Amino acid sequence: MWSDPLTINQVTLPNRLVRSSIGGRMAYYDGTVNGAWSNFEKRFAEGGVGAIISATLTIDERRWSPLEYPKISHDRFIAPLRRGVRKVQALGTKYLVQLGDPGYHTQTSLFSQRTDSASASSGFDLLFGYRNSRFALTTGEVEQVVVNFADAARRVRDIGCDGVEVTASKGYLIHQFLNPGINRRTDKYGGSAQARFRLLAEIVTAIREAVGPDFLFGVRLSARDYNHLPLNLRLPPSLPLRGWWFGNDIDQTIDYGRQLRDLGVDYLHISNGFGFINPRENPGDLPVDEVRMFMDSTAHLTRKARLRSGLLRLPRALVRPAMNIGWGDARTLNLDDARRFRAEVGLPVIANGGFQRRSDIEAALASGACDVVSMARPLLANPDLPKLFGAGHEQPERPCTFCNRCTIRTTMFPLGCYDRSRFDSDEQMEQQIIRWSATLDEQAELDEQAEELQGT
Ligand SMILES: Cc1cc2nc3c(=O)[nH]c(=O)nc-3n(C[C@H](O)[C@H](O)[C@H](O)COP(=O)(O)O)c2cc1C
Ligand code: SF4
Repeated sequence: MWSDPLTINQVTLPNRLVRSSIGGRMAYYDGTVNGAWSNFEKRFAEGGVGAIISATLTIDERRWSPLEYPKISHDRFIAPLRRGVRKVQALGTKYLVQLGDPGYHTQTSLFSQRTDSASASSGFDLLFGYRNSRFALTTGEVEQVVVNFADAARRVRDIGCDGVEVTASKGYLIHQFLNPGINRRTDKYGGSAQARFRLLAEIVTAIREAVGPDFLFGVRLSARDYNHLPLNLRLPPSLPLRGWWFGNDIDQTIDYGRQLRDLGVDYLHISNGFGFINPRENPGDLPVDEVRMFMDSTAHLTRKARLRSGLLRLPRALVRPAMNIGWGDARTLNLDDARRFRAEVGLPVIANGGFQRRSDIEAALASGACDVVSMARPLLANPDLPKLFGAGHEQPERPCTFCNRCTIRTTMFPLGCYDRSRFDSDEQMEQQIIRWSATLDEQAELDEQAEELQGT
């Protein structure tokens, strides 16, 4: 049952529903979380999830994506993060921080800067990252990445969190090293499937050493890369072409999963695809207007960003079908892959992507495909979803439509639900967005305003 508790490495989740990483521009311009952030996180705890996994907090002081997301790259971020985490834990919800480094998938920046194109190898990628091309980190710089992750994990423990998760998916730096289409290195970090795994192995080993054996530690892994070429044009091609075209397959990533288990990882969080966003990680639609907005918002940074924005100005009749190749399916697409990981690796598995109906969640858990289900967009649309399940509802009255408007707007606007069809009026939608970004005092004011409006 979704409401059954589960203990992993001494941490007991009160139920099997986890808020998957989701976040927005809720930090000051130095990366310190603001009052809106802790209230954002607290609202999911109030809704009844068993645990919350933070948005990806960046571990590199210079590379940051998107802007105004919280950072964890320095000790000065510990105290402000602790204040918010305590509010969540006071409600009985566990709090885990997800650590990541976007590498060349850095989406936005105030100014164009070289460090935002750091990767495993040099090359060009039309869709991901705003810089014209990516460059290869030196061996010494890669070793520094390992240190950055371990330092950040130690901070997670110092904050008093219940666990730490590393993202090796999303097309972020670790994923760039795992991916055969991107990693063409000839040093110890490339050249074979095992060498491409070395960065993740070193990070996991260093983190385990930093946090100790008794601290909950998971890895978010993409089961299959689904590079989705040719739309996601990526150059130069690498041999064998199959790896360049499709990336890692599930047999390869299951082998990585077994190695992660042997290195002391406690659970795997299974998603899919390469790059944020992609149709396997964020199943549903790809909204043309939002993609245009995002591309326009970065167009000033580089020639490539200008080119992308220009291409999207082509007539909608051309752009929409081309952009939506692979999209349009909002089912729980990753469940069968999660099942294979659970059976073949033997670690507890969190399944993610497209869950929203109680019966789907119950079926996934009962069939043994996963131990826990994580959700992001459905909880943004209805943060009290666990309470609704508890009251016997199959799904909320106005469910998330998986339109992905929030997913793209979060880089530019306050995070909230932007699907107008879910609201009675523009005002109602705006109020909901403002509420997500409000501090405690501001939320009280909004409640008063809403009551006044109801009375008139
Ligand atoms: C606004 C937004 C921000 C997200 N940020 C992150 C993130 O920081 N790290 C991450 O691993 N996934 C992130 N995701 C992906 C979600 O965690 C989740 O994998 C995805 O939305 C699919 O799950 P869902 O169908 O339950 O929404 C984000 C998703 C959204 C909508
Ligand atoms: S904008 Fe709203 S309906 Fe659309 S995916 Fe986000 S939460 Fe769901």
